[in-house]
Amino acid sequence: MSRLVVISNRLADPRKSAAGGLAVALGDALARTGGLWFGWSGTVTPDGTPGEGALQTHQAGNVTLATVDLCQADHAAYYQGYANSVLWPVLHYRLDLADFSANYSEGYRRVNQMFARKLLPLLREDDVIWVHDYHLIPLAAELRALGCRQRIGFFLHVPVPPPLILAALPQHEWLMRSFFAYDLVGLQSEADVVHFTRYMVNEAQAQELGGQRLRAFNATLRVAAFPIGIDVQEFQRLGRAPDAVQTCEALRAEYSRRQLLLGIDRLDYSKGIPHRVRAFRQLLERYPENEHSATLVMIASPSRDDVHAYADLRQELEGLCGAINGDYGDLDWMPLRYIHRTVARKRVPGLCRAARVGLVTPLRDGMNLVAKEYVVAQEPEDPGVLVLSRFAGAAEQLKEALLVNPYDTQGMADAIQTALRMPLSERQWRHERLMERIQRQDVHWWRNSFLQALRDEAAPPVTAPAG
Ligand code: G6P
Repeated sequence: MSRLVVISNRLADPRKSAAGGLAVALGDALARTGGLWFGWSGTVTPDGTPGEGALQTHQAGNVTLATVDLCQADHAAYYQGYANSVLWPVLHYRLDLADFSANYSEGYRRVNQMFARKLLPLLREDDVIWVHDYHLIPLAAELRALGCRQRIGFFLHVPVPPPLILAALPQHEWLMRSFFAYDLVGLQSEADVVHFTRYMVNEAQAQELGGQRLRAFNATLRVAAFPIGIDVQEFQRLGRAPDAVQTCEALRAEYSRRQLLLGIDRLDYSKGIPHRVRAFRQLLERYPENEHSATLVMIASPSRDDVHAYADLRQELEGLCGAINGDYGDLDWMPLRYIHRTVARKRVPGLCRAARVGLVTPLRDGMNLVAKEYVVAQEPEDPGVLVLSRFAGAAEQLKEALLVNPYDTQGMADAIQTALRMPLSERQWRHERLMERIQRQDVHWWRNSFLQALRDEAAPPVTAPAG
């Protein structure tokens, strides 16, 4: 079988136990065929020439990890700038937060060109190449321009908004055209596939060939939904380990007479965290029996603090959390525990298991794997209830969660109340169905179906669309 090459902005050593599901899953696939994982080293060098970074390689078993440093200017324009101040907000439907003013796109392109240059000599003729996420959309076009002929697939972990939102990107023609250098584009949900296809047809005059194939710019690509899953067995194993068991027991002892609600997110404006706090406040107001009884534990791990919109969010949230505790808290009860720190992964299943309600309420999310982890962590005899935003990609699969509209504060408060009062038989029924789907479409299923689809694609054309 041909060697697998994975390219992502961040990479993790797949042998380290702290690695999350995706690193484990990709690490698995890489180890099976022997593989190469390429990306940013995570290091920003204070000086250095833009478009130039040192390449380091090291061996982890039969997987080669190859990473490149970024100089300050490249990191600012490519990662903080175009990826996280332009693409992230636009792809999450937030044109209001996008910063189109600076010329970030040049830096984004420069770094993708550099990655292509550094990667090319490491490639073998029969490699299968799998590129991940919005940082690297033009990578295949840059590789093709250097003569790369291997099969290349792309998976976008974040959503695709409707065509007119994409069209607001000043460089949308260039960016979207570069998708045609891939043989297969994987998206998280059917809604994303519809948006992507409509954009290509309306804005790029692509032809729909059937079989999920689109033709434009003298190239053909296949686009399909491959909803990402979690490593269920690995997460269950983690849940049985001492750290998770102790975390769960400690919380149960502390909250023996109370019901725990839980939110775990990166502190990101796409996650709807302030909306959730408002809904929780509304719950206390409309259903006062929850006073002194319900406690919301909200873990929002620090993320991208150097980008303005994230600093603003942090301030807003601190105000909201302080106000709710000030207005409702008592000497023996605080309604909300807001934790702006990263919680060790090994404690996550225990936290989830102790919570009667899991609140996953993003305004927009590619998939949201916490929703799946929350379900898997539950005890089937007495499971908690997942309250899930209909705007998370996961909602297409997890229909038996209580689906909510996070913009509807009152509706969300009502759903939380329903979750808190839900009888055991209904909780069990919902949990069983959710588990069945999460188990069937796990991370291995996701990876295998994507790679199978990529391997099934015909060898790419000799000439590729120019960028
Ligand atoms: C999202 C993106 C990933 C990214 C992660 C953490 O899940 O889809 O590509 O790695 O957030 O964000 P960061 O900016 O810290 O890499």
